Amino acid sequence: MATSLTSSLISLAPLILAMMMCLGSACANLERFEHLPKPNGSLSFLVVGDWGRRGLYNQTEVALQMGIIGEMMDIDFVASTGDNFYDNGLTGVDDPAFNESFSKIYTAPSLQKPWYNVLGNHDYRGDVEAQLSPILRALDSRWLCSRSFIVNAEIVDILFVDTNPFVDEYFTKPGGYNYDWRGVLPREKYLSNLLKDVDSALKESRAKWKIVAGHHTIKTAGFHGDTEELVKQLLPILEENHVDLYINGHDHCLEHISTADR
Ligand SMILES: *[C@@H]1O[C@H](CO)[C@@H](O)[C@H](O)[C@H]1NC(C)=O
Ligand SMILES: *[C@@H]1O[C@H](CO)[C@@H](O)[C@H](O)[C@H]1NC(C)=O
Ligand SMILES: *[C@@H]1O[C@H](CO)[C@@H](O)[C@H](O)[C@H]1NC(C)=O
Repeated sequence: MATSLTSSLISLAPLILAMMMCLGSACANLERFEHLPKPNGSLSFLVVGDWGRRGLYNQTEVALQMGIIGEMMDIDFVASTGDNFYDNGLTGVDDPAFNESFSKIYTAPSLQKPWYNVLGNHDYRGDVEAQLSPILRALDSRWLCSRSFIVNAEIVDILFVDTNPFVDEYFTKPGGYNYDWRGVLPREKYLSNLLKDVDSALKESRAKWKIVAGHHTIKTAGFHGDTEELVKQLLPILEENHVDLYINGHDHCLEHISTADR
């Protein structure tokens, strides 16, 4: 599914202020990408998740429409909420699926922009480090993938969070799949560090809008249901820090859920 978001508010927080806030040692440990908005302060981007099918399952048709909408909106980048390569992630940096499911599919001129990618559960069934490797970026310069990171675009900070290690079932009932947990263990420590980093990045953020993106649902009306681990551990941090929007994939449908209290 592809959906789109547009903001056209002039930044009230000059970049210099955000930079000064980080001069102390309190800056969060998440990798940070600076993405300047358009000269008039506006920013638009597409969000897509659960996509890498070598063009099948209507991936090519969705890519075509993304190209048309991307041109109309003059998008600045694309955000991917994970499950980048079905069924089992990439086998390595030389997996032809990278070309066949990404480079050869999203060919429209408007989509030749940075792609900020997080990982989904299907990605964890393959070689995760391949998706994180700079070798892919050398093959296709649009590709940016990290476990958890921040895109700072002046009017908005988007925090991409790797939600996979939160899900108990992948550890307790992996169902015959081999999840690539290299770099994630010991799990408890990884998760508590990640939650701390997310919290401090949100507290440091001076952007007008704060968005968090991850693969798994928090609340959903879809097939997979709510991700209870995220409801319990991540949602309170998002609420405390007045996050405006959480964007996810995993459920293959389009939903817009709002809460009564915000
Ligand atoms: C800013 O410029 C873009 C095109 O570059 C335009 O689509 C958008 O409407 C403009 N926004 C404002 C607030 O003027
Ligand atoms: C592609 O979309 C069409 C139209 O919605 C649908 O009939 C078809 O089953 C889809 N193909 C696949 C492989 O999902
Ligand atoms: C990707 O596929 C195209 C068309 O099949 C081919 O020309 C190109 O060399 C491939 N690129 C890579 C990096 O494999």
